[in-house]
Amino acid sequence: MTLDPSDGSSNPLAPDWLHIPADANALAPGLWPTSTIRSGTGELVLGGVSATALAAEFGTPLYVIDETDARSRAAELLAVFQTEFARIGTSAKVYYAGKAFLSTEIVRWMTAAGLNIDVCSGGELAVALAGGADPARLGFHGNNKSLAELDEATRVGVGTIVIDSEVEIGRVAEAAARNGRVQNVRLRVNSGVHAHTHNFLATSHEDQKFGIVLSDAPRLVALIRAEPALNFVGLHCHIGSQIFGADGFAESAARLLELHATLLADGPVPELNLGGGFGIAYTSADEPTPIRELARALADIVAAECDRLGIPLPVVAFEPGRVIIGRSGVSLYRVGTTKAVDVSGTQRLYVSVDGGMSDNVRPALYGADYAVRLADRTSTEPPVLVRIAGKHCESGDIVVDADYLPGDVTPGDLLAVPATGAYCWALSNNYNYQGRAPVVAVRNGTARVLVRGETIADLLARDTGAMPPTNGGES
Ligand SMILES: Cc1ncc(COP(=O)(O)O)c(C=O)c1O
Repeated sequence: MTLDPSDGSSNPLAPDWLHIPADANALAPGLWPTSTIRSGTGELVLGGVSATALAAEFGTPLYVIDETDARSRAAELLAVFQTEFARIGTSAKVYYAGKAFLSTEIVRWMTAAGLNIDVCSGGELAVALAGGADPARLGFHGNNKSLAELDEATRVGVGTIVIDSEVEIGRVAEAAARNGRVQNVRLRVNSGVHAHTHNFLATSHEDQKFGIVLSDAPRLVALIRAEPALNFVGLHCHIGSQIFGADGFAESAARLLELHATLLADGPVPELNLGGGFGIAYTSADEPTPIRELARALADIVAAECDRLGIPLPVVAFEPGRVIIGRSGVSLYRVGTTKAVDVSGTQRLYVSVDGGMSDNVRPALYGADYAVRLADRTSTEPPVLVRIAGKHCESGDIVVDADYLPGDVTPGDLLAVPATGAYCWALSNNYNYQGRAPVVAVRNGTARVLVRGETIADLLARDTGAMPPTNGGES
């Protein structure tokens, strides 16, 4: 069956950005962990371990994290920000945004690389502490932290709490006083800049749940400063995710520094937190600005604005998640079925795998694009347009909306989807009672489990009405 035009042009069902590849086995640059290669037999090798061996030992679907890639990306990012901000005469702090992907071992990797950690729930706080993080190097976020979470955060001595609303000022102050602490706090403001990928939108205020409008900040900072159990450290802002250029950050930094300058009239403001959101490549169409260029541009804008305003340079903090861990992760799936579907005279090959929106909900949640490659072999068959579908009972259960695979892709093949390190395991769920997949770290030819997969027993463990398992009638 012919699935694609024979003249070598793209399938008309393919999105504009997707071009038919010269070689559908090739690994596009920038998408995979740096150690990834194809072996002489065509198998994908991650951190020195073949995808075939990983699938055989741990099953599929499987999250594979390249440890060296994650650790070195964290260390390099910190070094880049520290170098660029030292160049302008101040320093930079980096918090790893744990919401992207947190486990106790990842906490160890990040802290060993010199990063602080940002958590946004009591659960993430518990994981960070169980991973041995120094509480003083944690930041705690959230637009609705519970009283219990605030009590725990102040009790263990979390470094900074990001206040997100007026009502929280009293709550954090009370919790800190009860635990005998003076708590460092930031105030999250809404710069009115909202950014995503190529574009940013600048308005006077944003219609969203996080932060407070800039014009309210002086009054709230005065309330914070009046609380003996609170110490105001500075403003915080996060303008969005998967941002490719520096312009949105620059606009937001300029707006925040204007406010920062007015706050200096009534007391110290030692820091400025510009949040996270640096983008990564998910497909060959994505071209994020290299992190060194972003860091340089941000340092330059902070220096220029502080100079213009005649204020001292603050310590500048960042909270990236995706740009550190995103590219370190690869998901492996086994093909179960294939099905050619005729769409107005052109065919699209649906390839269904053994995972889906339970292990990667990003395509269903916000239309995220991914790429895919055969993981256990290569093939010289001409490429065909495929859509990788999950096994769940939702037609929107898509893992990869569009890519080209060799035309002989077939049940039993092993597939690899790159750049699944961030917001995949973290957002995983049990839809259709699918157990969450295990997470395995690879490094120097060895693999070890970071988080084991869920079993049927795990899935039934919280159901108070579960009957004891039957033994199929055997005595
Ligand atoms: C407040 C805050 N900081 C940091 C991040 C991390 O963003 P990213 O992983 O895109 O860098 C997020 C993501 O939602 C966030 O909400």
